[in-house]
Amino acid sequence: MGVSRGGFSSRMGFILAAAGSAVGLGNIWGFPTQTASNGGAAFVLVYLVLAFCLAYPAFMAELLIGRYGQANAVSSMQKMSRTLWQKRFAFIVGFGGIICAALILSFYGIIAGWMMSYAIEPVMRLANMDNAGKWLIEQSLSRNLLFTSLFMLLTIFIIRRGVEQGIEKWSKRLMPMLIGLLILLIIYVFTLEGSREGFKAYLNPDISRVFEPDLLISALGQAFFSLSLGTSVMVIYGSYISKKENLVSLGAQVTLIDVSIAFLAGLLIIPAMYVAQAQGVAIFADDGSLISGPNLVFDVLPTLFNGMGLVGLFVAFGFFVLMSIAALTSSISMLEGPVSFVVERHNVKREKATVLIGCFILLLSAIIILNFELLFGLVISASTVYGQPLIAMLCCVFVGWIWQRSEVLAEIKEGNNEVENSLFWKIWPWYTKFVCPSAIGLVFWHSL
Ligand code: PFF
Repeated sequence: MGVSRGGFSSRMGFILAAAGSAVGLGNIWGFPTQTASNGGAAFVLVYLVLAFCLAYPAFMAELLIGRYGQANAVSSMQKMSRTLWQKRFAFIVGFGGIICAALILSFYGIIAGWMMSYAIEPVMRLANMDNAGKWLIEQSLSRNLLFTSLFMLLTIFIIRRGVEQGIEKWSKRLMPMLIGLLILLIIYVFTLEGSREGFKAYLNPDISRVFEPDLLISALGQAFFSLSLGTSVMVIYGSYISKKENLVSLGAQVTLIDVSIAFLAGLLIIPAMYVAQAQGVAIFADDGSLISGPNLVFDVLPTLFNGMGLVGLFVAFGFFVLMSIAALTSSISMLEGPVSFVVERHNVKREKATVLIGCFILLLSAIIILNFELLFGLVISASTVYGQPLIAMLCCVFVGWIWQRSEVLAEIKEGNNEVENSLFWKIWPWYTKFVCPSAIGLVFWHSL
C-alpha cells in the first residue's frame, strides 16, 4: 500500500469504516420503513436472502477492483482495462459512481441535518427554551440550511484528516457508540406495553407475499443502498486494505454487520410503533398499512417519546443522536469517493480538495432545499433507484467480462492462498459474470 495515499492501519479499522459506510439512515430508517410498508417479516426474509445472494457478490467485486488498483475508482478500473474502449468504459463506470456518491450526499446531508436538529430539540425543552425547540422541529429554510451546513462541516472535518486519522479513527469511535445506543434503546422499548405485538409483526412472515415483484424490487434496492454499492465508495475503501488481508472474509463480516444492524433497527422501530399505538397514536394509514416514510420518524416516534414524560426527552435525544452518528459514518465515505479522485488524478492537496468538493456538494444541497418539491425526490430516485443499481451492475460486468480471470484469482489469493479450492471461488466468478448483472438488470428494467 502506498504510504503517500494512506490506508487502514488494521483489519478492525477497515471493518468498522466499511460497516460505518454501510450502516446509516438506510439501516435505521430505510429498512424498518420498508419493512413496515412491505408486509413486515416477509420483507425481512427477502432482504436477508438478497443481501447475501446478490449484494454480497457485487460488494466483493467492488472491493476487489479497489484493492487491485490501489487507487480511486476511475484509475483502478482503468488499470484493469487493456483496450481504449475498455479504458473509456472504465472512466464512465468509475466516474458515474463518483457522481452518484456526490448526489446521494447532497440529499443525505439534508436528512442528516433534520436528525441533528431533532436531537437538539429535547435539550432545548429541558432548558425551557420552547420556542427554539419548536423552530428546530418545524420545516423552514433557515433550519434546513443551517443544519445541513453543520452536518457537511462535520463530514469535511473528518475527511480532511485522511484515511487513518480521519475515517478510521472516527469510525472506531462512532460505530461502538452507535451499536451501544441501539441496544440500550431496544432494551428500553421492550419494557414498554405494546412492544410484544410489534415484535410478532416483525418476526412472523406472511410467506404468500415473498414473491411479490414490488417487494423484491424494494428489498434489492434497499440491500444495494445499504451496502453503499454503485457509488465508488467500496472501491476506494477496498483500495485502502492491505494485501495481507483476506478479502472474502472481510467482505462477509461487513455484510453481516450491516444486515444485523438493519435487523436490530427493525427490532427497535417496529415494536416502538406498536408501543405508540398502545399510547393512542395512530400507526396505520387509511389503507390499513403501517405508517412509513418521514411520518414514522418525525411524527410517530416523537409522539411516543413525548408520551413518556421527562424520560422521553432523554430517549428522544438518544434516538436522534443515534441517527446522526449513523449518517455521519456514511457521509464521510460518500465524500471520500470524489475527494480521492481529485487528489489522485489532479494532484490537489487533500485539505483543499475536501473543502472544495464539500462546499460544492453543500451548494447542491442548498439548491435542493430551495427547490425542495421539485428536486428532493428527483435526486433521490436519480441516484438510488437508477444510478446505484446501474453502476453496480456495470462493476459486475467489468469484473466478470473484462478483467482476466487469472488476474482476478491472483488478487483474491492475496491474503487468502487457499481460495482456489474454496466454495467461494467455485461459485462467485460465474455468479458475478451471469447472475448478478442479469438479476440487477431485471430489477432495473422493472423499475423503469
Ligand atoms: N449505506 C448507507 C445507508 O445505509 O444509509 C448509505 C450510503 C452510504 C449510500 C454511502 C451510498 C454511499 F456511497
